[in-house]
Amino acid sequence: MTSMGAKTKNAKLLAWVDEMATLCKPESVHWCDGSQAEYDRLCQVMVDGGTFTKLNAEKRPGCFLARSHPSDVARVEDRTFICAPTKEDAGPNNNWADATEMRATLGKVFSGCMQGRTLYVIPFSMGPLGSPIAQIGIQLSDSPYVVTNMRLMTRMGTKVLDVLGDHGFFIPCIHSVGAPLAAGQKDVAWPCNPNIPEKYIVHMPDDRSIWSIGSGYGGNALLGKKCLALRIASMMARDEGWLAEHMLILGLESPEGEKTYVAAAFPSACGKTNLAMLIPPDVFKGWKAWTVGDDIAWIKRGPNGELRAINPEAGFFGVAPGTAKNSNPNALLTMQRDSIFTNVVLTDDGDVWWEGLDGPPPAHGIDWTGKDWTPESKTPGAHPNSRFTAPAHQCPSIDPAWEDPAGVPISAFIFGGRLSKTFPLVYQAYDWAHGVYMGATMGSEATAAAIGQAAIRRDPMAMLPFCGYNMADYWGHWLKVGANLGPKAPPIFRVNWFRKDENGKFMWPGYGENMRVLKWIVDRVHGRAGAVEGAFGAMPKAADINTDGLNIAPGVLDKLLSSDKAAVLAECEEQVAHFAQFGSHLPKEMEEQRQKFISRANAL
Ligand code: GTP
Ligand code: SPV
Ligand code: MN
Repeated sequence: MTSMGAKTKNAKLLAWVDEMATLCKPESVHWCDGSQAEYDRLCQVMVDGGTFTKLNAEKRPGCFLARSHPSDVARVEDRTFICAPTKEDAGPNNNWADATEMRATLGKVFSGCMQGRTLYVIPFSMGPLGSPIAQIGIQLSDSPYVVTNMRLMTRMGTKVLDVLGDHGFFIPCIHSVGAPLAAGQKDVAWPCNPNIPEKYIVHMPDDRSIWSIGSGYGGNALLGKKCLALRIASMMARDEGWLAEHMLILGLESPEGEKTYVAAAFPSACGKTNLAMLIPPDVFKGWKAWTVGDDIAWIKRGPNGELRAINPEAGFFGVAPGTAKNSNPNALLTMQRDSIFTNVVLTDDGDVWWEGLDGPPPAHGIDWTGKDWTPESKTPGAHPNSRFTAPAHQCPSIDPAWEDPAGVPISAFIFGGRLSKTFPLVYQAYDWAHGVYMGATMGSEATAAAIGQAAIRRDPMAMLPFCGYNMADYWGHWLKVGANLGPKAPPIFRVNWFRKDENGKFMWPGYGENMRVLKWIVDRVHGRAGAVEGAFGAMPKAADINTDGLNIAPGVLDKLLSSDKAAVLAECEEQVAHFAQFGSHLPKEMEEQRQKFISRANAL
């Protein structure tokens, strides 16, 4: 029965869909073909059911707004599990659960979970279809919202089954909103399980399967993204010698046509989408910045021993608030049409709005909870984690090579967090091991309110919520990758756009102006720029950063490039507890690098 409409003879796939349908007991099974007609029909189903509001067809053609349940607005890290053979294999960075026990639990919680709903079979490819770097996943979901988002975020539909063939390997991803419908029970606009302990986002390293139930939002539900392309892929990358990273990929083209690609890791909501779509300021006349990806990079060695990266995604799932003409005009243009908005404000003329968008706020709108909203309202109109889902090919700065199956060559890695003090604007690692240490100790501050006594949340390589195994083993893997690359290993940099002055104001203008820092990085890559030795790493002199046309007070750049000795030594000391969590898994290079850092700091 479940194979009705299936455009595949893949016996493993057919048997698995059958098995899952028997477990979840949906009312029907639909094999998604990925067509526009199917997408349009599902959008209409959701409009009729109250999940989607169609936006003004002149202002936002082909766009829809969804409002989630207030309990279902972000990833649930506490309910995310890695069922590695031992707790130590999963590491202190993950919630571990025994695979056998978890399978028994999942058997119970998934039993009958799709009653009254349609089970959609969603074949998808992470990476260009048929690329040797790409991976095929099959997601089963009872959410039409998920189907439509997956169509924007991945290559999805029958064409994937064609590539899979009769015997191809796929990653099984099973998802349910966890809200079965009794006979005759009316559905709600955003079905989910609001009871947090009943949500599960589970990864099984043995058969690579992903099990998600209870949430319909973002990374919890679009299983190709964080679950497959980061957690499961990081395990595959460890076993196969490549890298799956929480990184944007950006190409910088000089007026002479020289193209330099960088991959940069920043924690969630720290500016990856902004940097990926950067527009160089006027002083960089003739320079172009090209977007390859804004969230995830899969990086493998190319035929000449160099590192090449692909963006496994086909769309952007970007944070809406703060996106504006002055911060990210390319993002605004990308979401002008055929996009899905979740948890933003609906304006009276059928358009969307969020805090930080250009111009005055609308006099009246409907907020993300569905209530009337005015500028006088005490709560934000858009949820801080409200998002837009938009096709990557609509981005004006999308790189002509963004779908090249061979990927783009990576010339530099950049790590960065949200750090209001101590950490300089930019510096370069002395060698690969130093760069891995810079990434391993990366941190970020949660809120702007924490100035002064801000405790740093360590988020190594921006992978804390996404590394599918012991983080210290992951650093070991990075060290191994570097050793194999030898002289082809790209230089590693750290940046910090978020340093603040005594008044709590950002000292660096950021956004497009970050090009000034990127230019120094590009020049370093090509051996064109000098550097001075600093405690953190090799640093530019203030004169090495082009400030033409920049409104920055004299001395500010010097401050951004300097650090207080006591603060640097305190940072070195804080790293002790961070490293101690990993016990014998910690590569010896990490403590060696920390000692070198202390020596350099003492020389300040
Ligand atoms: P995920 O999609 O959650 O992985 O995050 P992301 O890293 O893509 O986040 P995003 O680009 O949406 O981050 C937006 C946040 O970063 C907003 O709060 C911006 O104001 C801030 N931001 C981005 N670039 C800069 C910058 O150059 N300077 C400053 N001060 N803030 C920035
Ligand atoms: C992140 O949290 O890093 C995201 C958003 O990119 S989500 O896909 O929901 O995980
Ligand atoms: Mn992300």
